[in-house]
Amino acid sequence: MEESDGSLARVDRPRSNLEGSCSYLANRSCLGTLRKVTQPRDESRVDDVVFVREDDPRCADLEGRGYAITGYSWGANLRFDDDSDLSPIQDRVESMSIEGLIIRELLGDDLVAVVVLESANAIDYPSSPAARHGAPSVESLTAQLDGGARAWGALVFGELVAATLVAPHDERWNTEFTSVLPAFRGNGIGAAVKAASIVALYCAGVRWFSTGGAETNSASLGANVALGYVLEPRWRTYSRRSPAAE
Ligand SMILES: CC(C)(COP(=O)(O)OP(=O)(O)OC[C@H]1O[C@@H](n2cnc3c(N)ncnc32)[C@H](O)[C@@H]1OP(=O)(O)O)[C@@H](O)C(=O)NCCC(=O)NCCS
Repeated sequence: MEESDGSLARVDRPRSNLEGSCSYLANRSCLGTLRKVTQPRDESRVDDVVFVREDDPRCADLEGRGYAITGYSWGANLRFDDDSDLSPIQDRVESMSIEGLIIRELLGDDLVAVVVLESANAIDYPSSPAARHGAPSVESLTAQLDGGARAWGALVFGELVAATLVAPHDERWNTEFTSVLPAFRGNGIGAAVKAASIVALYCAGVRWFSTGGAETNSASLGANVALGYVLEPRWRTYSRRSPAAE
């Protein structure tokens, strides 16, 4: 499935019907823990923001203490075993029929293009206390790759039009961000770059992938569900305003 140069598919076929990341607090999705963020909004008051999965008994306690639900987010996992059939995921890459499209792993020389892509897409990431995305720099991406993260991208006639970055958290690899240029969305490219990362990492021994995002991000949710990610119970964002001195 994986080619020796790390790329998964080269698609260079006639044009079809194509017309022209997120720093989700994702680590929580597998920890099952309650997280609290204090957000200063003025000098005298702060917002206490707490993330709790909706099946957590602490929800009732928070509501009793005056916290209100101010948003929802989701986490999802994709697990395999040694005998898993990844052909449906590989098909997501191989079935792409966009002229000039190459899907491959991104390395150091690609990072400037990733910054340009992410800068163009920054405005499209939903922003909430639970899912916030800061546009990366070459330095931050280099640090992530040096720390073990890996990235895959889709290039059309050499232009990077999509990228995904995944990072290891022990045995679990979490999607840090995925984005596709607006003109190329809805054509399977977002799912295809994620699929390329999953197949390559599976070949390298990874069996557990995680992701997540804001409930409002139906495109991201759709792309992950299409790949087989299984949703966890939703996460609630609880907020309560309280005096800063508390
Ligand atoms: C999220 C994003 C990466 C998806 O990329 P994409 O290339 O448009 O998605 P795909 O075309 O691969 O779609 C894959 C699946 O998701 C579904 N989907 C795509 N867009 C959707 C939408 N707006 N609403 C609902 N489902 C959607 C498709 O139906 C498709 O499923 P199918 O193949 O079974 O029909 C893209 O919209 C994007 O860059 N958004 C801005 C950045 C962002 O929010 N990133 C995610 C947070 S890290």
